[in-house]
Amino acid sequence: MSTIKKQLVPSFIAIFLSFFFASAFAVPPEAVTAKNGMVVTEQQLASEVGVQILRQGGNAVDAAVAVGYALAVVHPCCGNIGGGGFMLIHLANGKNIFLNFREKAPLAANAKMYLNKNGDLIPDKSTEGYLAVGVPGTVMGFELALKKYGTMTRQQVMAPAIALAEKGFVLRPGDIAILDKGTAHFQRQAKIAAVFLKKGKPYQVGDRLQQKDLAQTLRYIAQTGVAGFYKGKIAKAIVEDSQKNGGILTMKDFAQYKVEELTPLVCSYHGYQVLSAPPPSSGGVALCEMLNILEAYPLKKLGFHSSQGSHYIIEAMRFAFADRNNKLGDPDFVKNPVTTLISKEYAAQIRKEIYLDRSTPSSLLPRSPSHAENVNTTHYSLVDKWGNAVAVTYTINRFFGSYTIAGRTGFFLNDEMDDFAAKPGFANQFGLVQGEANSIQPGKRPLSSMTPTMVMKAKKPLIVLGSPGGPRIISSVLLTILNILDYGLDVQAAVDAPRFHQQWLPEWVDIEKEPTVFSAAATEKLEQMGYRFKKHVLWGAVEAIFIDPQTGLLYGGSDYRRPSGGAAGY
Ligand code: DON
Repeated sequence: MSTIKKQLVPSFIAIFLSFFFASAFAVPPEAVTAKNGMVVTEQQLASEVGVQILRQGGNAVDAAVAVGYALAVVHPCCGNIGGGGFMLIHLANGKNIFLNFREKAPLAANAKMYLNKNGDLIPDKSTEGYLAVGVPGTVMGFELALKKYGTMTRQQVMAPAIALAEKGFVLRPGDIAILDKGTAHFQRQAKIAAVFLKKGKPYQVGDRLQQKDLAQTLRYIAQTGVAGFYKGKIAKAIVEDSQKNGGILTMKDFAQYKVEELTPLVCSYHGYQVLSAPPPSSGGVALCEMLNILEAYPLKKLGFHSSQGSHYIIEAMRFAFADRNNKLGDPDFVKNPVTTLISKEYAAQIRKEIYLDRSTPSSLLPRSPSHAENVNTTHYSLVDKWGNAVAVTYTINRFFGSYTIAGRTGFFLNDEMDDFAAKPGFANQFGLVQGEANSIQPGKRPLSSMTPTMVMKAKKPLIVLGSPGGPRIISSVLLTILNILDYGLDVQAAVDAPRFHQQWLPEWVDIEKEPTVFSAAATEKLEQMGYRFKKHVLWGAVEAIFIDPQTGLLYGGSDYRRPSGGAAGY
């Protein structure tokens, strides 16, 4: 197996530095290369589980389900069985599939459930405890994927996850950094502290994290599948705990939950076909809208992170997010003008509104307030030796979701209800402003930004990618695609390159704190154009695979921003 440790500095910076300090940085970090199969996730052990399944003869879907369960163990902040997500599948026979296993609002949910009697938002109500929890979709999503498109049994693909939960795994610095984010919350609940803390204190590098309850739950799911989760012991444990603790979940919510098989959203960019996430994700629509806008600008000629090129990219983000925030919601409940938003004509119209030499104040965009969200999630990408490819982004929303574990189930439940517009027109805690299309209704799915995506060349995958990061998922995916297609960066450099983000409101442009995104000269020019920048801690974690169309070689690029992640191939 060929794997690499995560590099400490972004590779393209290393390339730069190596130019000046040849001896210190002689070998810039590179993507992992393999011939037969590649798995890139945010936890190295999960990537290895994926490769193990591929080596056993499983296809990319088998491996995707195995990885999904393994991440629920080794990446408990984000990998999950208590949340939901999306799976984009390309089969070697040419068929493309999109599975929607996004959570649903409980049937007893209502538009005012997070407001006090004055109509004001009650802090934390949509993010912590049982009222934050949407009906989970992951187990049913994985089941459908495996049954319809996999080749192995549930027991086979779940075995590695069960072993990791039962025997435990050794925590590395990246794991500790993420667990640390939950310490204060873990300390408040004895049941959670007993597993995720060591005698009440944070784990240290080298400690072993064992999750016996989770192992038991996974064994039960391996035996009973969807029935056990949605109608059996697991649903009962969650409903009982929810009722005891002010929640509204019922057995009917679980019994009625359904996964949807959809057609991926399709658009094109410079002759490449782009497959991405349709509503209830906003990701594919916004990505396609931005790519359409940008297609007519000479980005490559203008240069990587040049002021003029970046001006166009930021404006594309601003216009696309204004639409995303106002016009999209669960298509089972609201009409989404997808065809218009991803048309080339609409992009041409927007380009006419973009100034050559100055930024557009967001307030001038003829759109009214709307949507938002939140930080945490995980993405992984896989390709097998037959040419099947899978991109999965799934989430419990924030790190460790609602900080709720039902009974002895051993897994965190999501706080996905916070992805709804708890009060339309008002910014949530992350600054996005949400609208009516995404208001709460019983059984509705909250709008998502998750953007599992494939860029296709001659109907075969060229890039398989996605990211966590709330709304920044969409811009992270966009920038990575541009970095590869327009700026010619290799996949690792493309993933690692510093990021910027604009989401219509607030008005400013977020830039990653370090390393510097724009040169001093480009920053000055952009400021003259009217841009204001706000430094932000690093965001997103793009886990991507590039498939060389000539040689068929697979290159895995795992984001340095999640140091416990890695690419594994064979
Ligand atoms: O579905 C969504 O868009 C959000 N729940 C995703 C949250 C997220 O990516 C947080 N990750 N860092």
